[in-house]
Amino acid sequence: MKTQEIINSSEDSSVDQSWPWWPLLPLYPYGHRRTLFRELIPDQVWSFEQLQGLYYVAVPVRLTVLKVTGGLMLVNPLPPTGQLRRGIEDLEKKYGPVLTIVLPTASGLEHKISLPALSRAFPQAEVWISSGQWSFPFELPLGWLGIPEGRTKILIEEGLPHDDICSWIQLGPLDIGLGSFQEVACFHKPSGTLLVTDALVGIEEKPPELFDIDPTPLLFHSRERGDELIKDSLEARKKGWARLVLFSCFLRPNKLSIPPFFEVLRNSFKPGLRNFKSHFGLYPFVWEEGWEESAGELIGKEKPLLQVAPVLERLIFPRAQDALIQWLDELIRLKGIRWLVSAHFSAPVELFPRKIRNLKEQIKRRPWAIGEGNWQFLDGLDKALLKGGVVPKDPFEKFRG
Ligand SMILES: [Fe+2]
Repeated sequence: MKTQEIINSSEDSSVDQSWPWWPLLPLYPYGHRRTLFRELIPDQVWSFEQLQGLYYVAVPVRLTVLKVTGGLMLVNPLPPTGQLRRGIEDLEKKYGPVLTIVLPTASGLEHKISLPALSRAFPQAEVWISSGQWSFPFELPLGWLGIPEGRTKILIEEGLPHDDICSWIQLGPLDIGLGSFQEVACFHKPSGTLLVTDALVGIEEKPPELFDIDPTPLLFHSRERGDELIKDSLEARKKGWARLVLFSCFLRPNKLSIPPFFEVLRNSFKPGLRNFKSHFGLYPFVWEEGWEESAGELIGKEKPLLQVAPVLERLIFPRAQDALIQWLDELIRLKGIRWLVSAHFSAPVELFPRKIRNLKEQIKRRPWAIGEGNWQFLDGLDKALLKGGVVPKDPFEKFRG
């Protein structure tokens, strides 16, 4: 498996990694995005990863490239920095032009935001998007969002791209108040790979390779207090990764508390920490005993642990488990399914029908959308949205008749 950061020494690397549209969704590392390239399945599936997040709570986001008849298909857009474009151009030289760009999610802002720029970078490509795209606070026409209307089609409603070798499996739509949730998974038959955006993920103990380029977010979160220096070690990287997993899965894990502001200030601006990289020692987190056990429930020891993304379970599917089960049933029926490649966390993850069946049985057996432990914060959020009438009680009502 080939892995590399795409580097062209003849150009200034800071320009090559720049993403000028970062203020549209101001996420770390802002205007400077490094891209990691990996070949996931030889001659069939490739991955480009960039970090995105808030306050060093940054996790890799993935664009996947599939070999299709006559060229390439890009699924789940990423900012087309010079590095990313160069990596894709290298693939084009060997496998043919980018024919298609797909945004298979209606709600994942981190995937939508770069579609206009990515479509401009490949002006010959046809663009396919899932239905139910929405913008907030105003509903805007696609053209106003920068999506090229003349070459954009809606998945399922207007057909499906590359259906000679791909099957498309829809999850949703679900009414989530501010808009709708929808995701269309793509099963690429030649490689046996299922591409999803957010719904299914596999998480493992080893930090993603993208952090080898810059482990700062891991090391920042591996500390106990703001006055601790940022030090690199394999243990610190693993510890920081486990905490980032908790953050990204539960937003506010229950073994995390926020210390009083004066205490945060007291531990900041210490010698060696007066720099932007250390956020000047500002570290508003206290991890309580037991945090490692709660991270262990999400993280696979030797292999990635397959799961429905917790945020989705508690905020999107609390009253729609049936829709998820139905989707999993469709996945079980896919002939030759072998790998999962999601837009987040580990890839490729082994995905045989037996594994999907086990996941389905486990979901049906265990209590669903609970409010205890790590789920408390998401549960509170869901209840508040429901009470305020932002989220409907019946997520299917809008789509009936
Ligand atoms: Fe996502």
